[in-house]
Amino acid sequence: MHIQKTGFEFEVYETIDQLDPEDAGLLEKARVVSANAYAPYSSFFVGAAALLQNGVVVCGTNQENASFPAGICAEQAALAAVASIQPGSPIQTMAISYQGNGIESDHPISPCGVCRQVLTEYEGRVGFSVRLILGGMKGQVYIIPSAQSLLPLAFTAAELP
Ligand code: THU
Repeated sequence: MHIQKTGFEFEVYETIDQLDPEDAGLLEKARVVSANAYAPYSSFFVGAAALLQNGVVVCGTNQENASFPAGICAEQAALAAVASIQPGSPIQTMAISYQGNGIESDHPISPCGVCRQVLTEYEGRVGFSVRLILGGMKGQVYIIPSAQSLLPLAFTAAELP
């Protein structure tokens, strides 16, 4: 028996002002697009802005449904849009932000478990990491080198026959 360790390093910025202009612009886009979320049940509005390697930016927002499990997260909406509009395009960076009724959007939120799975599969599909920028409407910003780093020991297509 031996103990194995996993972990990753990420960057922490005190505010959006410390980001380079391209990253700041992408986070700002995620902030703005979060207003397009359809979230009448949770009142939690999430925006994702994906910068493709070819420079195109594709956005997604969470889209809820009265049948709750039918709702999809912003990250999944963005990925589905990228794969539909620009199939096979590597995503250089995805910024994720949020706002909500009665909450302070003052810290980063992380993709949910399902989104981590979906983002990890996308990385495998196109062979490139998705760098993540996480931030609220204000406050600290995290930059994470790849979605897969958020999902150690991920289940992947490599297991399937
Ligand atoms: N949500 C996202 O869109 N992305 C995340 O990473 C976390 C959660 C959405 C799902 C649901 O519509 C609402 O936020 C509350 O969970």
